[in-house]
Amino acid sequence: MLHPTSGGGEPSLSVRDLTVEFDTPQGIVRAVDGVSFDVFPGETVALVGESGCGKTMTALAILGLVPRPAGRIAGGRIRCDGRNLLGMSNRELRSIRGAVASMVFQEPASSLNPVFTVGKQIAGVLRAHDRGLSRRAARDRVIELLRSVGVPDAASRIDDYPHQWSGGMCQRALIAMAIANRPRLLIADEPTTALDVTIQAQVLEVLDTARRETGAATLLITHDLGVVAEMADRVVVMYAGRVIETATVDEIFHAPRHPYTLGLMASLPRLDIDVARLVPIPGQPPHLHRIPAGCAFHPRCRLRHGRSRCVEQSPPLLQVGPTGRRTACHFHDEMTTEVAVVTEEMGADPTVAATP
Ligand SMILES: Nc1ncnc2c1ncn2[C@@H]1O[C@H](COP(=O)(O)OP(=O)(O)OP(=O)(O)O)[C@@H](O)[C@H]1O
Ligand code: SF4
Ligand SMILES: [Mg+2]
Repeated sequence: MLHPTSGGGEPSLSVRDLTVEFDTPQGIVRAVDGVSFDVFPGETVALVGESGCGKTMTALAILGLVPRPAGRIAGGRIRCDGRNLLGMSNRELRSIRGAVASMVFQEPASSLNPVFTVGKQIAGVLRAHDRGLSRRAARDRVIELLRSVGVPDAASRIDDYPHQWSGGMCQRALIAMAIANRPRLLIADEPTTALDVTIQAQVLEVLDTARRETGAATLLITHDLGVVAEMADRVVVMYAGRVIETATVDEIFHAPRHPYTLGLMASLPRLDIDVARLVPIPGQPPHLHRIPAGCAFHPRCRLRHGRSRCVEQSPPLLQVGPTGRRTACHFHDEMTTEVAVVTEEMGADPTVAATP
């Protein structure tokens, strides 16, 4: 599954038919249901969708961190940097984490251990993958890493404990930790949501610089469409555990081919176009115990127009057009008109939305 932004090489991350299940008192639920996507070297792919759609579970599955015993990977394939992650033992997975793929979480403060200094924790990550590294060399490398993520006075602050650092500084330390062993894949799950608005942009800049310097592929999970527009090359949209659309960031913003993607774009504020009003998506995402038959989005879909096919048949994720974009909607060929209608409802300039 090659893509124009990929340059045609092998993907750093390739996820195929990934399924994650949980045992619950009401029975088995599928938090991730047949998810497939690729992330190519140096590329940033944003994973978006409403709360509970399976974004974090997809990320945790990639790193072998699905919470047990309730959860498990029930099927699929995950290849990272040419290695098959799903066949690996826990020991092998531990060695992969950090060296091949690493993750930055939403809560910087709780992701650091309060009883060790920041410097010790980063040095620990370095030495876990390079047993021969001396304490002295590790300390120098930690200072260098902290400087590269913009921590001022890194040499003197290395011996601080996490509580002495602000949330933004802690997130910089976690990014330093995540890139310490130059992984091929960096996953960031809502990396700025818990931070003050004023420092969100700085932390994103640090993440982007880290991506550029290490050449890592980045999977960025975010609710924030401004962040998507700023950072992503491509976007994977999830709904109720499934991928419902993937496309370049421009295609997603200006010519979505799934009514849910259009709903997200029309219901959330954006910086790139002036709108008179937002158009909310009616209703709520389904509970995983009660996923609607056919297209899971059908009870909320304004493009359905009462058609029975949407209730009877689950739309497959199919390639549409020459650019490799994919969508899961029986009536995607009606989306150009639908985008124009919604754009008019928003009171936006239709020429903006008409540009693919
Ligand atoms: N331990 C668990 N037991 C049962 N179901 C779970 C468990 N953990 C998560 N889930 C379910 O898995 C689904 C996906 O959760 P996930 O955390 O991946 O969502 P998300 O897209 O990251 O949402 P958010 O945007 O709120 O972070 C949710 O609907 C949730 O109810
Ligand atoms: S398949 Fe039907 S219900 Fe689903 S998104 Fe398309 S039009 Fe809407
Ligand atoms: Mg999440």
